[in-house]
Amino acid sequence: MTTADRYRGFAETEVHGYSPCYERWCLGIAGDTELLALIDTLPSPKRQPNLILGAARYLGAAVSEFAEFKDFLIRNWPEIRDVAMTHRTQTNEAGRAATLLPLLAQYPGHPVALIEFGASAGLCLYPDRYSYRYNDGPILDPKDGRSEVVLPCATTGTPPLPDELPWVVHRAGVDLNPLDVRNPEDMRWLESLVWPEQRDRLSRLRNAAAIARHDPPTLITGDLNTALTDLVHAAPRDIPVIVFGSAVLGYLTREDRNTFRDTITALPCHWITNEAAGALNYGPVPAPPRPGQFVLASDGTPVAYTGPHGQTLDWIER
Ligand SMILES: C[S@@+](CC[C@H](N)C(=O)[O-])C[C@H]1O[C@@H](n2cnc3c(N)ncnc32)[C@H](O)[C@@H]1O
Repeated sequence: MTTADRYRGFAETEVHGYSPCYERWCLGIAGDTELLALIDTLPSPKRQPNLILGAARYLGAAVSEFAEFKDFLIRNWPEIRDVAMTHRTQTNEAGRAATLLPLLAQYPGHPVALIEFGASAGLCLYPDRYSYRYNDGPILDPKDGRSEVVLPCATTGTPPLPDELPWVVHRAGVDLNPLDVRNPEDMRWLESLVWPEQRDRLSRLRNAAAIARHDPPTLITGDLNTALTDLVHAAPRDIPVIVFGSAVLGYLTREDRNTFRDTITALPCHWITNEAAGALNYGPVPAPPRPGQFVLASDGTPVAYTGPHGQTLDWIER
Protein backbone atom coordinates (compact mmCIF):
# COMPACT_ATOMS: atom_id res chain seq x y z
CA MET A 1 0.00 0.00 0.00
CA THR A 2 1.42 3.42 -0.90
CA THR A 3 1.66 6.22 1.63
CA ALA A 4 -0.98 8.12 -0.36
CA ASP A 5 -3.35 5.13 -0.07
CA ARG A 6 -2.67 4.91 3.65
CA TYR A 7 -3.56 8.57 4.24
CA ARG A 8 -6.60 8.44 1.94
CA GLY A 9 -7.84 5.22 3.60
CA PHE A 10 -7.37 6.73 7.07
CA ALA A 11 -9.32 9.83 5.99
CA GLU A 12 -12.17 7.87 4.46
CA THR A 13 -12.64 4.96 6.88
CA GLU A 14 -11.29 6.10 10.25
CA VAL A 15 -11.61 9.84 10.79
CA HIS A 16 -14.49 10.62 8.43
CA GLY A 17 -17.40 11.78 10.60
CA TYR A 18 -15.14 12.16 13.67
CA SER A 19 -12.48 14.74 12.84
CA PRO A 20 -12.98 17.11 9.89
CA CYS A 21 -9.48 18.51 10.50
CA TYR A 22 -7.72 15.13 10.27
CA GLU A 23 -9.85 14.20 7.26
CA ARG A 24 -8.81 17.42 5.53
CA TRP A 25 -5.14 17.03 6.43
CA CYS A 26 -4.97 13.36 5.37
CA LEU A 27 -6.69 13.94 2.05
CA GLY A 28 -4.37 16.89 1.49
CA ILE A 29 -1.28 14.79 2.24
CA ALA A 30 -2.54 11.94 0.01
CA GLY A 31 -2.54 14.36 -2.95
CA ASP A 32 0.70 16.22 -2.15
CA THR A 33 3.86 14.77 -3.67
CA GLU A 34 6.17 17.01 -1.63
CA LEU A 35 4.77 15.83 1.72
CA LEU A 36 4.52 12.22 0.58
CA ALA A 37 8.22 12.31 -0.33
CA LEU A 38 9.09 13.67 3.14
CA ILE A 39 7.00 11.05 4.93
CA ASP A 40 8.47 8.31 2.74
CA THR A 41 11.93 9.08 4.13
CA LEU A 42 10.71 7.39 7.35
CA PRO A 43 10.63 3.60 7.86
CA SER A 44 7.24 2.20 6.85
CA PRO A 45 5.80 1.69 10.39
CA LYS A 46 6.63 5.34 11.16
CA ARG A 47 4.62 6.70 8.22
CA GLN A 48 1.34 5.95 10.01
CA PRO A 49 -1.11 8.89 9.81
CA ASN A 50 -1.93 8.77 13.54
CA LEU A 51 1.77 8.95 14.39
CA ILE A 52 2.76 11.78 12.02
CA LEU A 53 -0.28 13.91 12.79
CA GLY A 54 0.04 13.20 16.52
CA ALA A 55 3.71 14.24 16.37
CA ALA A 56 2.77 17.49 14.62
CA ARG A 57 0.14 18.25 17.24
CA TYR A 58 2.56 17.35 20.06
CA LEU A 59 4.77 20.10 18.61
CA GLY A 60 1.94 22.61 18.46
CA ALA A 61 0.11 22.20 15.13
CA ALA A 62 -3.31 23.81 15.57
CA VAL A 63 -6.58 22.92 13.85
CA SER A 64 -6.24 24.63 10.48
CA GLU A 65 -6.78 24.45 6.76
CA PHE A 66 -4.47 22.07 4.88
CA ALA A 67 -2.25 24.81 3.39
CA GLU A 68 -1.36 26.08 6.87
CA PHE A 69 -0.74 22.55 8.11
CA LYS A 70 1.50 21.79 5.14
CA ASP A 71 3.54 24.85 5.95
CA PHE A 72 3.83 23.70 9.60
CA LEU A 73 4.96 20.22 8.54
CA ILE A 74 7.65 21.51 6.23
CA ARG A 75 8.98 24.13 8.66
CA ASN A 76 9.08 21.69 11.59
CA TRP A 77 9.96 18.47 9.76
CA PRO A 78 13.23 17.68 11.64
CA GLU A 79 11.43 17.89 15.00
CA ILE A 80 8.35 16.02 13.74
CA ARG A 81 10.63 13.33 12.39
CA ASP A 82 12.38 13.02 15.79
CA VAL A 83 9.09 12.73 17.65
CA ALA A 84 7.81 10.10 15.19
CA MET A 85 11.04 8.11 15.46
CA THR A 86 11.08 8.18 19.28
CA HIS A 87 7.36 7.65 19.95
CA ARG A 88 4.73 5.01 19.16
CA THR A 89 1.04 5.14 18.41
CA GLN A 90 -0.17 4.48 21.94
CA THR A 91 -3.66 5.92 21.93
CA ASN A 92 -5.18 4.76 25.21
CA GLU A 93 -8.95 4.72 24.89
CA ALA A 94 -10.82 4.04 28.12
CA GLY A 95 -14.03 3.99 26.03
CA ARG A 96 -13.08 0.50 24.84
CA ALA A 97 -13.96 -0.75 28.32
CA ALA A 98 -17.63 -0.43 27.28
CA THR A 99 -17.23 -3.02 24.54
CA LEU A 100 -15.01 -5.27 26.65
CA LEU A 101 -17.31 -5.14 29.68
CA PRO A 102 -19.68 -8.05 28.82
CA LEU A 103 -16.63 -10.34 28.72
CA LEU A 104 -14.78 -8.76 31.67
CA ALA A 105 -17.86 -8.99 33.90
CA GLN A 106 -18.69 -12.64 33.31
CA TYR A 107 -18.01 -13.65 36.95
CA PRO A 108 -20.53 -11.66 39.04
CA GLY A 109 -19.70 -11.72 42.73
CA HIS A 110 -16.27 -13.29 42.17
CA PRO A 111 -12.88 -11.58 42.32
CA VAL A 112 -11.01 -11.56 39.02
CA ALA A 113 -7.47 -10.77 37.86
CA LEU A 114 -7.08 -8.59 34.77
CA ILE A 115 -3.95 -8.63 32.62
CA GLU A 116 -3.72 -6.38 29.58
CA PHE A 117 -1.25 -6.74 26.72
CA GLY A 118 -0.37 -3.58 24.80
CA ALA A 119 -1.74 -1.62 27.76
CA SER A 120 -0.26 1.81 26.88
CA ALA A 121 -0.98 3.67 30.18
CA GLY A 122 -3.35 0.94 31.39
CA LEU A 123 -6.61 2.90 31.27
CA CYS A 124 -8.61 -0.12 30.08
CA LEU A 125 -7.62 -1.92 33.29
CA TYR A 126 -10.21 0.04 35.30
CA PRO A 127 -13.56 -1.28 34.01
CA ASP A 128 -14.82 -1.34 37.61
CA ARG A 129 -14.20 2.40 38.07
CA TYR A 130 -16.17 3.67 35.08
CA SER A 131 -19.91 4.23 34.48
CA TYR A 132 -21.66 2.72 31.47
CA ARG A 133 -24.72 3.85 29.54
CA TYR A 134 -25.86 1.28 26.97
CA ASN A 135 -28.97 2.03 24.99
CA ASP A 136 -31.85 0.03 26.51
CA GLY A 137 -29.39 -1.54 28.94
CA PRO A 138 -28.94 -1.28 32.69
CA ILE A 139 -27.40 1.86 34.15
CA LEU A 140 -24.09 0.65 35.49
CA ASP A 141 -22.12 2.67 38.01
CA PRO A 142 -19.28 1.76 40.41
CA LYS A 143 -20.38 0.88 43.97
CA ASP A 144 -19.55 4.38 45.22
CA GLY A 145 -21.68 6.08 42.56
CA ARG A 146 -21.44 7.62 39.13
CA SER A 147 -17.88 7.80 37.82
CA GLU A 148 -16.23 10.87 36.33
CA VAL A 149 -15.82 8.64 33.27
CA VAL A 150 -19.20 7.79 31.73
CA LEU A 151 -19.04 5.55 28.67
CA PRO A 152 -21.95 5.69 26.25
CA CYS A 153 -22.24 2.71 23.92
CA ALA A 154 -24.88 1.96 21.27
CA THR A 155 -25.67 -1.74 21.02
CA THR A 156 -27.45 -3.99 18.54
CA GLY A 157 -28.31 -7.66 19.01
CA THR A 158 -28.36 -9.13 22.49
CA PRO A 159 -25.01 -8.61 24.19
CA PRO A 160 -24.88 -10.22 27.65
CA LEU A 161 -24.77 -6.91 29.50
CA PRO A 162 -23.95 -7.47 33.17
CA ASP A 163 -26.02 -6.29 36.16
CA GLU A 164 -22.89 -5.36 38.08
CA LEU A 165 -19.34 -4.30 37.36
CA PRO A 166 -16.48 -6.78 37.70
CA TRP A 167 -14.78 -7.21 41.06
CA VAL A 168 -11.17 -6.55 40.06
CA VAL A 169 -8.57 -7.54 42.68
CA HIS A 170 -5.48 -7.62 40.46
CA ARG A 171 -4.55 -5.44 37.48
CA ALA A 172 -1.35 -5.76 35.52
CA GLY A 173 -0.16 -5.16 32.01
CA VAL A 174 2.67 -5.25 29.54
CA ASP A 175 3.68 -2.81 26.85
CA LEU A 176 6.78 -2.27 24.73
CA ASN A 177 6.74 1.23 26.21
CA PRO A 178 4.36 1.62 29.15
CA LEU A 179 3.17 5.19 29.63
CA ASP A 180 2.78 6.65 33.10
CA VAL A 181 -0.29 8.73 33.90
CA ARG A 182 1.79 10.52 36.57
CA ASN A 183 4.30 11.74 33.98
CA PRO A 184 3.27 15.06 32.33
CA GLU A 185 5.24 14.29 29.14
CA ASP A 186 3.47 10.93 28.75
CA MET A 187 0.12 12.66 29.29
CA ARG A 188 1.01 15.26 26.67
CA TRP A 189 1.73 12.49 24.16
CA LEU A 190 -1.51 10.66 25.01
CA GLU A 191 -3.46 13.89 24.56
CA SER A 192 -1.77 14.57 21.21
CA LEU A 193 -3.03 11.21 19.99
CA VAL A 194 -6.68 12.14 20.55
CA TRP A 195 -7.98 13.47 17.25
CA PRO A 196 -8.72 17.21 17.13
CA GLU A 197 -12.35 18.23 17.70
CA GLN A 198 -12.92 15.17 19.92
CA ARG A 199 -13.43 17.11 23.14
CA ASP A 200 -15.38 14.23 24.75
CA ARG A 201 -12.53 11.81 24.17
CA LEU A 202 -10.03 14.30 25.53
CA SER A 203 -11.93 14.85 28.76
CA ARG A 204 -12.49 11.09 29.06
CA LEU A 205 -8.73 10.55 28.77
CA ARG A 206 -8.01 13.15 31.43
CA ASN A 207 -10.66 11.82 33.81
CA ALA A 208 -9.62 8.18 33.33
CA ALA A 209 -5.98 9.15 33.92
CA ALA A 210 -7.02 10.89 37.16
CA ILE A 211 -8.68 7.64 38.31
CA ALA A 212 -5.60 5.59 37.39
CA ARG A 213 -3.31 8.07 39.16
CA HIS A 214 -4.97 7.23 42.51
CA ASP A 215 -4.14 3.54 42.12
CA PRO A 216 -1.61 3.12 39.29
CA PRO A 217 -1.53 -0.29 37.58
CA THR A 218 1.52 -2.55 37.52
CA LEU A 219 2.81 -2.21 33.97
CA ILE A 220 5.95 -3.96 32.83
CA THR A 221 8.09 -3.12 29.83
CA GLY A 222 8.34 -5.94 27.33
CA ASP A 223 7.00 -7.80 24.36
CA LEU A 224 3.64 -9.40 24.98
CA ASN A 225 4.85 -12.72 23.57
CA THR A 226 7.62 -13.01 26.13
CA ALA A 227 5.88 -11.39 29.11
CA LEU A 228 2.40 -12.90 29.21
CA THR A 229 3.34 -16.29 30.64
CA ASP A 230 5.01 -14.79 33.72
CA LEU A 231 2.22 -12.25 34.19
CA VAL A 232 -0.43 -14.99 34.17
CA HIS A 233 1.57 -17.13 36.60
CA ALA A 234 2.06 -14.11 38.90
CA ALA A 235 -1.70 -13.50 39.20
CA PRO A 236 -3.45 -14.59 42.41
CA ARG A 237 -4.27 -18.29 42.42
CA ASP A 238 -7.77 -19.77 42.41
CA ILE A 239 -9.48 -16.82 40.79
CA PRO A 240 -10.32 -16.35 37.10
CA VAL A 241 -7.53 -14.68 35.15
CA ILE A 242 -8.68 -12.64 32.16
CA VAL A 243 -6.04 -11.57 29.67
CA PHE A 244 -7.17 -8.97 27.18
CA GLY A 245 -5.91 -6.55 24.58
CA SER A 246 -7.34 -3.97 22.25
CA ALA A 247 -5.88 -2.38 19.10
CA VAL A 248 -2.53 -4.14 19.60
CA LEU A 249 -2.15 -7.21 17.40
CA GLY A 250 -2.16 -5.16 14.20
CA TYR A 251 1.33 -3.97 15.22
CA LEU A 252 2.67 -7.53 15.23
CA THR A 253 3.95 -9.54 12.27
CA ARG A 254 1.78 -12.46 11.14
CA GLU A 255 4.33 -14.82 12.68
CA ASP A 256 4.19 -13.01 16.05
CA ARG A 257 0.39 -13.09 15.98
CA ASN A 258 0.55 -16.86 15.52
CA THR A 259 2.99 -17.10 18.42
CA PHE A 260 0.58 -15.01 20.51
CA ARG A 261 -2.27 -17.42 19.77
CA ASP A 262 -0.13 -20.48 20.59
CA THR A 263 1.09 -18.88 23.84
CA ILE A 264 -2.24 -17.64 25.10
CA THR A 265 -4.18 -20.82 24.37
CA ALA A 266 -1.66 -22.79 26.44
CA LEU A 267 -2.06 -20.52 29.51
CA PRO A 268 -4.59 -21.00 32.35
CA CYS A 269 -6.65 -17.91 31.52
CA HIS A 270 -9.54 -16.57 29.48
CA TRP A 271 -8.44 -14.30 26.68
CA ILE A 272 -10.17 -11.46 24.92
CA THR A 273 -9.09 -9.69 21.77
CA ASN A 274 -10.61 -6.52 20.33
CA GLU A 275 -8.79 -5.92 17.08
CA ALA A 276 -9.18 -4.72 13.52
CA ALA A 277 -10.74 -7.38 11.32
CA GLY A 278 -7.99 -9.53 9.84
CA ALA A 279 -5.60 -9.15 12.80
CA LEU A 280 -6.35 -12.75 13.82
CA ASN A 281 -7.59 -15.61 11.70
CA TYR A 282 -11.04 -16.40 13.14
CA GLY A 283 -12.44 -18.47 10.30
CA PRO A 284 -15.75 -17.38 8.75
CA VAL A 285 -17.49 -14.40 10.41
CA PRO A 286 -20.57 -12.45 9.31
CA ALA A 287 -19.94 -9.20 7.43
CA PRO A 288 -19.38 -6.15 9.69
CA PRO A 289 -22.28 -3.70 10.02
CA ARG A 290 -20.01 -0.76 9.09
CA PRO A 291 -16.49 -0.46 7.69
CA GLY A 292 -13.62 0.01 10.12
CA GLN A 293 -15.15 -2.01 12.97
CA PHE A 294 -13.06 -4.12 15.34
CA VAL A 295 -13.81 -7.78 16.05
CA LEU A 296 -14.33 -8.66 19.72
CA ALA A 297 -13.43 -12.30 20.39
CA SER A 298 -13.66 -14.48 23.48
CA ASP A 299 -11.06 -17.27 23.70
CA GLY A 300 -10.55 -16.86 19.95
CA THR A 301 -14.25 -16.95 18.98
CA PRO A 302 -15.70 -13.71 17.53
CA VAL A 303 -18.70 -12.49 19.52
CA ALA A 304 -19.24 -8.90 18.32
CA TYR A 305 -18.17 -6.06 16.09
CA THR A 306 -17.15 -2.97 18.03
CA GLY A 307 -16.63 0.71 17.35
CA PRO A 308 -12.85 1.33 17.48
CA HIS A 309 -13.20 3.76 20.37
CA GLY A 310 -15.87 1.75 22.19
CA GLN A 311 -18.81 3.73 20.83
CA THR A 312 -20.77 0.75 19.42
CA LEU A 313 -21.24 -2.93 20.19
CA ASP A 314 -22.95 -5.06 17.54
CA TRP A 315 -23.37 -8.52 19.04
CA ILE A 316 -23.15 -11.38 16.57
CA GLU A 317 -26.33 -13.45 16.79
CA ARG A 318 -25.79 -17.20 16.40
C1 LIG B 1 -3.05 1.67 19.90
S1 LIG B 1 -2.34 1.32 21.46
C2 LIG B 1 -3.73 0.61 22.31
C3 LIG B 1 -3.63 0.77 23.80
C4 LIG B 1 -4.73 0.12 24.62
N1 LIG B 1 -4.75 -1.32 24.40
C5 LIG B 1 -6.10 0.69 24.32
O1 LIG B 1 -6.93 -0.01 23.73
O2 LIG B 1 -6.38 1.83 24.69
C6 LIG B 1 -1.32 -0.10 21.12
C7 LIG B 1 -0.33 -0.41 22.21
O3 LIG B 1 0.27 -1.69 21.97
C8 LIG B 1 1.63 -1.63 22.32
N2 LIG B 1 2.32 -2.73 21.61
C9 LIG B 1 2.49 -2.89 20.29
N3 LIG B 1 3.15 -4.03 20.03
C10 LIG B 1 3.42 -4.61 21.24
C11 LIG B 1 4.10 -5.80 21.63
N4 LIG B 1 4.64 -6.63 20.74
N5 LIG B 1 4.16 -6.10 22.95
C12 LIG B 1 3.62 -5.24 23.87
N6 LIG B 1 2.98 -4.10 23.54
C13 LIG B 1 2.88 -3.78 22.25
C14 LIG B 1 2.06 -0.23 21.88
O4 LIG B 1 3.24 0.18 22.52
C15 LIG B 1 0.82 0.60 22.30
O5 LIG B 1 0.95 1.08 23.60
